[in-house]
Amino acid sequence: MAKKINCLISAGPTREWIDPVRFISNPSSGKMGYALAKEAHNRGFDVNLVSGPVSIRPVDGIMVTRVETAEEMRKAMLEKFDSSDLILMCAAVSDHKPKFQWEQKKKKDQFPQNIEMIPNKDILLELGQKKKKLQTLVGFAAETENGVQNALEKLNKKNLDWIALNDISNKKIGFDKDFNEITLFSSSGKRVNLDFSKKEELATQMFELILK
Ligand code: C5P
Repeated sequence: MAKKINCLISAGPTREWIDPVRFISNPSSGKMGYALAKEAHNRGFDVNLVSGPVSIRPVDGIMVTRVETAEEMRKAMLEKFDSSDLILMCAAVSDHKPKFQWEQKKKKDQFPQNIEMIPNKDILLELGQKKKKLQTLVGFAAETENGVQNALEKLNKKNLDWIALNDISNKKIGFDKDFNEITLFSSSGKRVNLDFSKKEELATQMFELILK
């Protein structure tokens, strides 16, 4: 019997806490990542989904690891990376986190005027550095300007096999929408436009292309 493909997918936002009641995050709903996980499951793959806080229910049969912060997501992805064949990093990871997290809620009049931020580690960059020959690594680039140039730079810098570019300046697609429009670039120089469609339909098209 052929070996089952192990597919590792990240989805949703991360939260970077300031104090117990406040965090920095983004509007990612996780819909694209969950659609990819469902598609992988329908194809008979073993699916590990590392999910930030979202309100979608995954389909039965998918292994879900729930995380909040970028560091928790990093640990979960690194733990499963070596045993995965196909890795899709679809999560909208917070690039920065507050340097200090207060254990107690800051009162309104004590709340700092400025919050010092420090960078989170780039999970995808780290996965790209660890990638083995038979692994396929896919990243996402959500851009508001210079999309193609930024996507190609990320493809190269993060040692990816594919990158999926979203134009998030288009209000009909992307963050928290049911629809998307993607341009996929491969490290071998392919460029394919996937037209405006439901995220589930795009997930099917993405797998067809990546597994070709
Ligand atoms: O460089 P940029 O953040 O735009 O790259 C986007 C890609 O990198 C996405 O696939 C995202 O999941 C991933 N990423 C990451 N760790 C970060 C920031 C982004 O894995 N700290």
